[in-house]
Amino acid sequence: MYIKKPQEIALIVEGGALLGAILEQLTHMVGPGVSCFEIDQSAERLIVAAGGRPAFKGYKTRPSDPPFPSTICASINHELVHGIATKEKILHEGDIFSIDIGMEWPVSVPTAIGASAGASRGYFTDTAITVAVGGIPKEVQKLIEVTQEALEVGIRETRPGNTIADIGRAIEAYVRSQGAYGIIEELVGHGVGHSVHEEPRVPNYYDAEFESWVIRPGVVIAIEPMISLGSRFIETASDGWTISPQDKSLSAHFEHTIAITEGGPVVVTRRPGEKHAMT
Ligand code: MF3
Ligand code: CO
Ligand code: CO
Repeated sequence: MYIKKPQEIALIVEGGALLGAILEQLTHMVGPGVSCFEIDQSAERLIVAAGGRPAFKGYKTRPSDPPFPSTICASINHELVHGIATKEKILHEGDIFSIDIGMEWPVSVPTAIGASAGASRGYFTDTAITVAVGGIPKEVQKLIEVTQEALEVGIRETRPGNTIADIGRAIEAYVRSQGAYGIIEELVGHGVGHSVHEEPRVPNYYDAEFESWVIRPGVVIAIEPMISLGSRFIETASDGWTISPQDKSLSAHFEHTIAITEGGPVVVTRRPGEKHAMT
């Protein structure tokens, strides 16, 4: 686990605040008839204007993979994560829509070319939200609320002396207490900062393996519960990216980047207008 220096943490805190504000602005664009591509273009413009670079555009899980083509991951209804923001994907009344966004900041050359741009040495932050497009049924609203609260439950466990296992234990117990939801196990949170994904993995369920990962100042992680109304198993679409539950049930995703500073944990990607439980 990378332990970041206070000067590095300071840049992550600053970049995360910019990214949280950008995500909030994007949520204001959400409405029936809007295409994911329009939102993606704004996302890219806002990131570049802030002095950053989209972290997902050009991203590859393995060198043999096709590069991820958009700035945001745009996932509608049963799409869980890693949806591509295309012109053909139009939002409709009653949809639920997840925006996941990552930024490298600051970058010396304000370009949006992505991973290939080379020399800059910014720091990465990562955050996601699921929103309703107009009116949605009560049980779908509850899916969104449970997923958001699962993130907050995980954040409360993110403190010095606790372990990564404590985060998963608390999230799993909370989600199970709320009903028969599918907790996706194959996808997890992660360390973040020098790149989008670093060690350790941060599961949304209890795994004893993570008892040895002790949270302390300098640790930066992304916590990201992914919850479905049905299956906990996933499949990847033929586009090579979009991931859905195997039964195509509706699914929600929230994510924040959290830095453990000398003064305690800071949720660096909080949105300016975000309401969250303070405990
Ligand atoms: N944002 C995702 C995460 O939270 C990673 C997206 S990589 C992409 O870990 F290539 F799919 F965009
Ligand atoms: Co992430
Ligand atoms: Co993300």
